[in-house]
Amino acid sequence: MQKLIIKGCKELTGKISISGSKNATLPILAATILAEHVKLKNIPLVKDIFTMLDLLKFIGLKTSLKKNKNLIEILNKKKDVNTLAPYKLVKTMRAGVLVLGPLLTKYGKAKISLPGGCAIGTRPVDLHLFALKKLGAKIKIKNGYIIAEAKKGLKGCTIRFPSISVGATENAILAAFKASGKTILYNSAIEPEIKDLILFLNKIGGNIKITGRKITILESKKTNKKVFHSIVFDRIELGTYIIAGALIGKKIVFKKINPSVIKNEIKILRKMGVQIKIKKTEITVLKSKNIKKINVITKPYPGFPTDLQAQLLVLMTRAKGKSKIKENIFENRFMHVPELKRMGANIQIEDQVAVITGPSKLTGAEVMATDLRASVSLVLAGLIAENRTIINRIYHLDRGYEFLENKLKNCNANIRRI
Ligand code: UD1
Repeated sequence: MQKLIIKGCKELTGKISISGSKNATLPILAATILAEHVKLKNIPLVKDIFTMLDLLKFIGLKTSLKKNKNLIEILNKKKDVNTLAPYKLVKTMRAGVLVLGPLLTKYGKAKISLPGGCAIGTRPVDLHLFALKKLGAKIKIKNGYIIAEAKKGLKGCTIRFPSISVGATENAILAAFKASGKTILYNSAIEPEIKDLILFLNKIGGNIKITGRKITILESKKTNKKVFHSIVFDRIELGTYIIAGALIGKKIVFKKINPSVIKNEIKILRKMGVQIKIKKTEITVLKSKNIKKINVITKPYPGFPTDLQAQLLVLMTRAKGKSKIKENIFENRFMHVPELKRMGANIQIEDQVAVITGPSKLTGAEVMATDLRASVSLVLAGLIAENRTIINRIYHLDRGYEFLENKLKNCNANIRRI
C-alpha cells in the first residue's frame, strides 16, 4: 500500500499549473453518450476519470486517451449500446450515476447500480430520480439497481428542486437534452462545472440557457458531427494550493486561470490575512503572517465549497483565537479532524460545526486518509508540521489530485511516495 512521507516546515516557492477540473470532466464524459465524435482537452489524469472511461467503454463507446497531451477522443456511432452501469464501476465512483440521464434520453432505457453511501455521508440519489420521473421516466429499484424506462422518449417539463444538488442538476440537464419541447429547472446548482457541461452540450447541438438558478433546456434535434472542448480549470485544486501558499508559501504563482471563479474564496482568505495578488488570468500568494480567525459556512456555489472545508480548517489552526466552520452540505465530513488533533490541532466538533482554537503548532504523525479532500488536508498539515508526517491510504488522493507530489516538489516541498 502506498504512503506519502512529508518532512514539514519547508517554505514553498514557485509556479503551480492547475489541472482540468475532475468534477467538470466527469459529467462531460457522461454527456459524450449524447454526442458522435468529440475531442476533450485538459483532462486530469486521475483515478475517477479512468473509472468513468472504463464505464463508457463498457457501455460501448470508443475511447482513446493520449496521456501526454491530456487529450481524449471519444466516438459513439453505434445505434445500440449496453445501457448498463454495473456495481463494480459505480461503487468506487458515485459520478457513474450520471450516465443514467443520457442513456435514458437517447436509448429509452438504463439500468444503473445504486451508488450507495460513502464516507462523507449517505449521499442518496432521490433528487436525480425525482427529476427523471418528472420528465416521464418509469423507475423502479430492484436488486440494488435503478431500472429506468422511457419507451416513447422523455417529455420536457418544469422541475423545481426541493434542495440544491450538483449531480441531480447535471442528470436532469443531460436527460432533458433530448426530451421533447422545453424543460425548465428551478433551484438548480450553478457550479462552474455545470456551466462547463452546458457549454459542451451546446457545442454538440444543445440549446441550454442559464439565468440565476433557472436553467432552460430546449430539445436538441441535431447532433454536431465533430466537437472540440477544453475542460475548465479545477477551482478546488487551485483553492487547495492557494491555502498551501497561505500556510507556508513564500511566493506561489498560478497562471492561466480565471480568478473571478473563486472570488468568494479569495475574499474569505484575504479576510484571514492571506496576501493574494490578482491579475486577469493569474494569482500570486505571498508569505502571509498573522492569520486571523474567521467563521465560515459551506454552501452551494457561489458560497464557500464543502470541497475546501478540510483545507481551510488546517489554515484555521494557524489563526489566533476561535474560528468556526459549519459543514452545511454533507453530514459526516469532519473525518480529518481526529487525525489533525493527533498532529496537535485544537478542534472541537459541535453538531455540524468545527470550532478551531489557534494558533497551534502541528507536529508530524502517522495518519490515515479517509476521503479525497480529507486526505489533502493531511498533506497540508504535513507541510507545516514539525518532523515527519506519514499519510496512509493515499488512493483517495489519487482519485482527484493530478501529480500532487510533483507539483509540490517543484515548489521545494519535501514530499515523497513510497
Ligand atoms: C458534487 C461533487 C462533490 C461536491 C458536491 C457538493 C462531483 C463529481 N462531485 O457531488 O465533489 O462535494 O457536489 O458541492 O461533481 N442529495 C440528496 N439527494 C440527491 C442528491 C444529493 O439528498 O439525490 C444531498 C447530498 O446528500 C448532499 C447534498 O444534497 O447533502 C449535495 O449533494 P450534491 O450536490 O448532489 O453532491 P454530488 O453531486 O454528489
